Amino acid sequence: MRQVGRYDIDDPGKIQGRDEVNPSDRSVAAIRLNHCLDALSDTSGTVLILGCGAGRYVRAMKRVRPDLRVIGCDLSVSALHEAVAADRDGEYIALDASVLPFADDSIQAVVFFDLIEHVPAYEEMLADIGRVLVYDGVFHFYTPLEDQPRSIYHLLKNSSRLPLRTWKQDHVGHINFFRAQDVFRDIWHAGFRVEDARYGFHPFGQVHDLVDYWQRERVGGASGVLPISAVRMVARVTFLFTWRLSYFEDRLYEGPTLASGLHLTARMR
Ligand SMILES: C[S@@+](CC[C@H](N)C(=O)[O-])C[C@H]1O[C@@H](n2cnc3c(N)ncnc32)[C@H](O)[C@@H]1O
Repeated sequence: MRQVGRYDIDDPGKIQGRDEVNPSDRSVAAIRLNHCLDALSDTSGTVLILGCGAGRYVRAMKRVRPDLRVIGCDLSVSALHEAVAADRDGEYIALDASVLPFADDSIQAVVFFDLIEHVPAYEEMLADIGRVLVYDGVFHFYTPLEDQPRSIYHLLKNSSRLPLRTWKQDHVGHINFFRAQDVFRDIWHAGFRVEDARYGFHPFGQVHDLVDYWQRERVGGASGVLPISAVRMVARVTFLFTWRLSYFEDRLYEGPTLASGLHLTARMR
């Protein structure tokens, strides 16, 4: 969906993926990259990265796996302009991930990070990914689980003081809020078998996100008790701890308890 609340996929202020991510980084983005690299360890040929934004995972994949043909895809033309500017010889295609312009059985792996929560017809997208993948091709993705029981997102689902779900819709265009069991069900219905599932974004990551979106909301004009300078200070101090701790908690524990993200690898059944 191109526009949700204040979110527009072509708004330069909303484009993600400008930074560089490397496997040795101590960041949650590097954890996502490393799970994907593990999933693709025996893959050769063409890999699609859907919803690539400004292309950080495409560039990372090309650096680490120069043997692969990596194609970055996104619905946002502005994001793709930035991806191309940062990777002049890269291959990028503007498309809607729920209608893939590729032949049946033509792609060896399909990957995405933080995409499915944005796509209205996401079941069609999963079915189309199954169509374009070769037999035994790899499907790997990371998705937030913003309806996962006992996550901060779930606890605040109906909160009027901290309406994190509304903030996510409004600021970054999330329209789908999953529990892990929803994702497993949808993957099954699209014809896949799950090969590996690991969890991420445990409580420190969620606190980081909550403070981040509270700050965005206040800076964007919402009323509140604290002055904006104090809001910024609270956010800065919180991030000093949560940025690193969210990385370490996900490195130490990849289980479902108190998680709100899922790294999943699947193949067609
Ligand atoms: C949260 S950003 C993630 C960007 C990138 N994967 C990253 O993590 O750096 C989501 C991206 O999905 C793209 N997107 C949203 N709906 C899409 C669709 N139907 N087809 C393709 N891309 C889409 C957006 O334009 C945006 O670049």
